Order: sequence, then structure tokens, then C-alpha cells
Amino acid sequence: MTDPPIAEAILRGLRARPKTLPTFLLYDALGSALFEAITELPEYGLTRADLRVIEAHRADVVRALPGPLDVVELGPGGGRKAALFLRAVTAVQARTVFTAIDVSASALRECQRALEQLDGVEVRSVEATYLDGLRRAGRVEGARRLVLFLGSNLSNFDRRDALAFLRDVRATLSPGDALLLATDLEKPAAELLPAYDDALGVTAAFNRNLLVRLNREHGADFPIADFAHEARWNAPERRIEMHLVARRACEVRLLGAAVSFAAGESIWTESSHRFRVDELRAWADESGYTCAEQWTDQRWPFAHSLFLAR
Ligand SMILES: C[S@@+](CC[C@H](N)C(=O)[O-])C[C@H]1O[C@@H](n2cnc3c(N)ncnc32)[C@H](O)[C@@H]1O
Repeated sequence: MTDPPIAEAILRGLRARPKTLPTFLLYDALGSALFEAITELPEYGLTRADLRVIEAHRADVVRALPGPLDVVELGPGGGRKAALFLRAVTAVQARTVFTAIDVSASALRECQRALEQLDGVEVRSVEATYLDGLRRAGRVEGARRLVLFLGSNLSNFDRRDALAFLRDVRATLSPGDALLLATDLEKPAAELLPAYDDALGVTAAFNRNLLVRLNREHGADFPIADFAHEARWNAPERRIEMHLVARRACEVRLLGAAVSFAAGESIWTESSHRFRVDELRAWADESGYTCAEQWTDQRWPFAHSLFLAR
């Protein structure tokens, strides 16, 4: 049976105008595997940019935060980026605890398997949404907490919600703790759109899998072939939006309700906002941090901002 809050969120979204679905539902086992495939696509420069900044500056992050550190990552996926940070941490302290917080059970299993091989790292997994997980994650006494929020996951929030989220994360931290925020920066729509609508159709499969998941887990009867993936650039909001567009009028049953679609009507499944470095610094000030450092990638404009809890 569907968890009541999830059922409520699904039905609320499908009754809204425009129709929406919670973005985190994209990440079941197949969705997590498809996301890993997306990171390898030639069009998706974001992960490579994030990795270049990590490789170049992970030691600077650790140097800026006299330890011992305990490390938490929000939405680590398979844990590839965490592994790079943890090597930099264990180069200066013998042991550390890493807590992975993710909604995807399969991503957590993969992350745990990959990271528990690292010497000196104790891995803890919390299957939860970001803030619930942070509130549940135990602290290591005497250690400074470093929270990693990489891959521009913050992009999925509306700007107002993003600022509120930064405040909520801050409320779980102590002065001197840190948040390393990796965000994609503004770039021309002509470069961004293919990253969300690739030639192989992997992103389309990632998006449409949400309906496969609703059919399998929530008793829905979406005609999958009748919904097309679409990526749109919303210039005023500076974001890519992913939609699933009904190719024809249809009625879908799920969770004891009927939902009608007009031909051409869409379900908005994900937003991916772009940022400016000065906007991020201002947000640090407004949400209880000091932005201590920013490192950027020039090839695919991308920033890591080190926020210190005031
Ligand atoms: C876009 S992927 C990024 C993965 C990794 N951080 C990276 O940079 O490659 C987002 C990850 O966050 C998880 N996720 C998405 N929304 C979440 C939420 N609200 N709470 C917890 N985890 C979430 C997904 O399961 C997935 O592993």
C-alpha cells in the first residue's frame, strides 16, 4: 500500500494546474541507474564539471575546516564524489564517519558498498528525504560537521524554497560546521537543453520511468507510450523544466481516483535552476552562513561554494 503522505502528494500534484509530481519519485532503482547513465552522456557536462572542481579543490575544503570532520552527503547517489572527498579527509585524520542520506534504497546500497572499502571510513546510510535524514543523522562527538550537497541538487528547488532549505539545513548545524554547495551556473539555453534531452533518449527514459513506477508501485494505469518527454527552458525563472506531455487525451486511474489529461497537457516532473555566484554569496548571508570560498569551473560554468555556519 502507498505511504499515505506520498499518495497525498501524488494526487495533490496531479490535481494542480499545471499538473506536477514530486521530483524525488524519479529515483527508484531503475531511475537511479538511469541517472548514473546520464552522468556519462556527452551532452551532460555538469557531472564532469563537478568532478573537476572536486579534484582541484577537495584538499582546499579540508584545509579550510580544521578537523576532526564528520561528513554527511545529501543525495549522494552511488557515492563517487563522496569517495574523492573522503580520501582527502582520511589523508589528514585516521578515521571519519560518513553518513549518506538518500531517498533511493538502491543508490544507498551502491554508495555503502563503494565507500566501505575505503580505509578509515565508517559508512552510515539513512533512507530519507534530505531534511528528515539530516535531523536523524547522529553526530560524532567533538567533530566538525561537513555537509556535502553536490551535483547541483539544489537546482530542483524553486528559488524561494532553496533559500528556505539552506536555512533549514543551517538549523541542524552548529557554528563552525560547513555546507559545501555545488551548483550549476548560468549558460546559454542552447547548451543546456541537450543536457536534458540527449540524443540517446536516456533522459527521456529517466523521466518516463516515473510513470512506470506509478503503474508498478501505486496501481496506476498510465499508457506510457502516450506520454512524451520534453525539456523546456524557462528564461525568466532561469531553469530547465522536464515535462511528460500527453500525446492524446486520456484518463488515468490511480490511488482510487481518476485523472484526465487533455491532448498536449503536461506533468511537470523536475525543475533545474541555474545560479550566479553573487546570488549564492547573498544567500549564504541571508541563511545564517558566511561564504568562505568559491571555486568555479570555466569549461562548463559550475561553482562550489563553501558556506560556514555562523
Ligand atoms: C541528481 S542525483 C545526484 C547524485 C549525486 N549527488 C551526484 O552529484 O551525482 C540526486 C540524488 O539525490 C537523491 N534525492 C533526490 N531528491 C531527494 C530528496 N528530496 N531527499 C533525499 N534524496 C533525494 C536521488 O535519489 C539521487 O541519488
